[in-house]
Amino acid sequence: MDVKNLSNDFGVEITNFDCSNKIQSDEIKFLKTTMQNKHFICFKNQKLDGNLLAKFTKNFGELEAYPEKDKTKGKLEIFNVSNISEDGEHLSPDDQRVILQKNNSRWHTDSSYRYFPSSFSILFGQETLPEEATGGQTEFSNMLKAYEHLPDDKKTLLEPLHQVHSYNDIRRLEPGLPELTYEEKSNFPPVSHPVIRVHPDRNLKKSLYFTSNTSLEIGGMSLENGKKLHSWLVEYISQSMFCYKHFWEQNDLIMWDNRVLLHRVIPYDYSKYRRAMIRGTVEGNVPVLGPFSNEIRSTV
Ligand SMILES: [Fe+2]
Repeated sequence: MDVKNLSNDFGVEITNFDCSNKIQSDEIKFLKTTMQNKHFICFKNQKLDGNLLAKFTKNFGELEAYPEKDKTKGKLEIFNVSNISEDGEHLSPDDQRVILQKNNSRWHTDSSYRYFPSSFSILFGQETLPEEATGGQTEFSNMLKAYEHLPDDKKTLLEPLHQVHSYNDIRRLEPGLPELTYEEKSNFPPVSHPVIRVHPDRNLKKSLYFTSNTSLEIGGMSLENGKKLHSWLVEYISQSMFCYKHFWEQNDLIMWDNRVLLHRVIPYDYSKYRRAMIRGTVEGNVPVLGPFSNEIRSTV
């Protein structure tokens, strides 16, 4: 296994490592430590299908199941992040499966609509855009660093605030999507998470935690002010000093820490280019704790 840093802050690239093999316990330990310190890994030149991806993902925890009943993917645990159907057909940009992909171009962290949001996402690039194409990269922004650089008045303003994360609210931003069933909605009622999260496994370090893919407001203030603050946050975390853009090559397998990084796909010409990826998602087992959570207050 060869490891090299991708930027000064976060991200490493790993070559000469086959994720389809059985992974040894010392290798899993090394990868977990790397995720803790570097938050993003790109494994080059992998050969995986859905089953092998699921097997690799299980090294890091349980697999999350998709919230919708088999509308947009083949298997409940392996999500298609793709404008290609199960049968290999290039889908129209109006197809609901492609609309869902377009929503991924808003900054987000996977599964924030759950009380226990996902820890890691693991995404395999089966078909990637040709080099001359514009867009299609996956961009990441480091919320630990973004918090560190926040002006003090913004830290004070944000500290007590929450954002509501609702899976159903994707429909508010993308009205072309079909309604969820009563059961799907009931399984994922809205949750609220602190906008400043505290990481007990990182010496109580703080980071930002918000998304743009289900709501464009911050709670705890008027609609107008909540929208203004949200727009400010989006602009702030989009600065290049916090970001790393992954330029895909076919057969890259990338893995990131949803507790630390936000991500988005850079929009591309959905009708011209095929882009097919599959994702395994590691279930989280801790809630998002904020500065005023009892668990945190009792430790300080
Ligand atoms: Fe995502």
